[in-house]
Amino acid sequence: MQQPTQDSESFWRQQGQCLQWIKPYTRVKNTRFTTPVHIAWYEDGTLNASVNCIDRHLPQHADRIAYILENDDGTRIEHITYQQLHDHVCRMANVLKQLGVGKGDRVVIYLPMIPAAVYAMLACARIGAVHSVVFAGFSAESLGGRIQDCGARLVITADAAWRAGRMLDIKAAVDTAVADVSSVEAVLVVDNGGADRITPTPRDQFYTRLSQQASSHCAPTEMQAEDPLFILYTSGSTGKPKGILHTTGGYMVYAASSFQTVFDYQPADIYWCTADVGWITGHTYGVYGVLANAATAVLFEGVPTYPDASRCWQMIDRHQVTIFYTAPTAIRALMREGDIHLVSSTRQSLRLLGSVGEPINTDAWQWYHDKVGLGQCPIVDTWWQTETGGILISPPPVQGKQKPGAAAKPLFDLQPVLLHTDGTVIEGAGTGNLCLADSWPGQARTIYGDHARFEETYFKAFPGYYFSGDGARRDADGDYWITGRVDDVLNVAGHRLGTAEIETVLDSVAHVVECAVVGVPHAIKGQGIYVFVTLLAGVEATETIRESLIQTVRTRIGAIATPDAIQFCVGLPKTRSGKIMRRILRKIAAGELDSLGDISTLADPSVVDAIIAGRVVV
Ligand code: WT7
Repeated sequence: MQQPTQDSESFWRQQGQCLQWIKPYTRVKNTRFTTPVHIAWYEDGTLNASVNCIDRHLPQHADRIAYILENDDGTRIEHITYQQLHDHVCRMANVLKQLGVGKGDRVVIYLPMIPAAVYAMLACARIGAVHSVVFAGFSAESLGGRIQDCGARLVITADAAWRAGRMLDIKAAVDTAVADVSSVEAVLVVDNGGADRITPTPRDQFYTRLSQQASSHCAPTEMQAEDPLFILYTSGSTGKPKGILHTTGGYMVYAASSFQTVFDYQPADIYWCTADVGWITGHTYGVYGVLANAATAVLFEGVPTYPDASRCWQMIDRHQVTIFYTAPTAIRALMREGDIHLVSSTRQSLRLLGSVGEPINTDAWQWYHDKVGLGQCPIVDTWWQTETGGILISPPPVQGKQKPGAAAKPLFDLQPVLLHTDGTVIEGAGTGNLCLADSWPGQARTIYGDHARFEETYFKAFPGYYFSGDGARRDADGDYWITGRVDDVLNVAGHRLGTAEIETVLDSVAHVVECAVVGVPHAIKGQGIYVFVTLLAGVEATETIRESLIQTVRTRIGAIATPDAIQFCVGLPKTRSGKIMRRILRKIAAGELDSLGDISTLADPSVVDAIIAGRVVV
């Protein structure tokens, strides 16, 4: 393993100055990738993240716009200045305090993309509470599991979420989720136009009422650099979702500097990241990295296809957006709707486009570049993960020859390494497991409550390295091309889902003996979910069972995990030791029937023909 260079340390010492510290750090880096894994940055410094996002900009930029808001149906467009952001955040922080929330307490945020979601995150940061935002598309059960895992005292939600003109009762999901969670003392309900439609409970506290008496001043809590800032749950290849923990100092340094570097952010820019705050992209490049640079960003409650597929392009004109950052799945969905939706906008304001979340195929890249960006904007195809806190690999944001689909070059002094499965290092051009040889400030510190799982998941396969779970190719120019997950994690429409998680849910359905979930290429979503199921002997595969499989996944995980194909099988391909051969199932689902590989080691090779015969085309 390569040792950190003295230069790396002095680089990050210098870079740390992009923040305002209460007590300056003297120690920059204290990290170790072998057991016991330990990651700490700037550990003797103290700071407050909300001050870095707001207060320190006020002397110069109180009237600068922090967020341009647009609601679901476009009937409300609002500008929030940094001063107004400060006042909102402080009021909410005071309400949290009034509800008994203090330093170190966990607060779960289950909100749509409305400004209150940002206020809630920053209000937690202000008083040293640890937020855990749960994407409002997750089911009550998924939400409940996360609330329980982090032991939240408070859940913040809204009386409604709006999606394409329809109201979703997310408050009802919260009520179900907290029903038997003893740690939750209160549910704070923000007004989003659904007050008359919800069912109040004794736990509810209504923000509109409480905030009326709340002061717009709230002294920030001094935090150690290594105090937790947030927990964000993400799926892995095994078990329940992992609470990825990020701390204050290093995360903020990395968010601030990577935002500036990747997007070459300039003060006149209007930036729009379409990611929901429920994902890491929304955290780092929708809130913390953006505000730490005193930038101006668009915050959009709705969906790109409502009222029609020209919505985003018109919003770009309306708000004179210069930098637009979205996911390949959105690009593909809009591309499919046709170029006709581009004619009602000019998009002349754009200067840079970004892509994130999954590999971008050449067609989508070309359409994004030629049509959306009028051939004038470079595309930054940014590779990173919930665990990395910020972008690690991305092309430079400059005009010139670009490689469609390449994430290209590591940022800063990062050291990506490609390893063969036997652990040997690949030099020069080649394909292998994508690892990092050394730490960076934005790296996750642990899995909340389970450091052993953290070590096991990321540091065991390749001792001395952080293993991302992705495969990548490096070409002769040293550019990286992400090939996708090498583990049992799916990437469905940019959402990360564990196959094991979906299988556990399906196994609980009546009559199911066993099942195997694999990813299958999908034209819009990148990957779709393909389910192979075997039923109890004598039970007929009916439409009712199919429906109940689908419904169970939707209610227990969320609509994002809805299977795209369900195939009933007589048996699954297994090794003689009983292990399901997912490799074969992936090939069959994808229709790659000529390359099934060696099936002679199967306990019963005849099941393969039966499965091929019953294949469902996605
Ligand atoms: C996984 C992480 C981090 C942003 C949102 C997703 C895949 C991410 C790219 C990219 C190819 C990408 C990887 C990674 N991924 N960005 N530019 N090209 N693949 O965060 O939910 O933690 O998922 O998304 O497979 O491991 P996440």
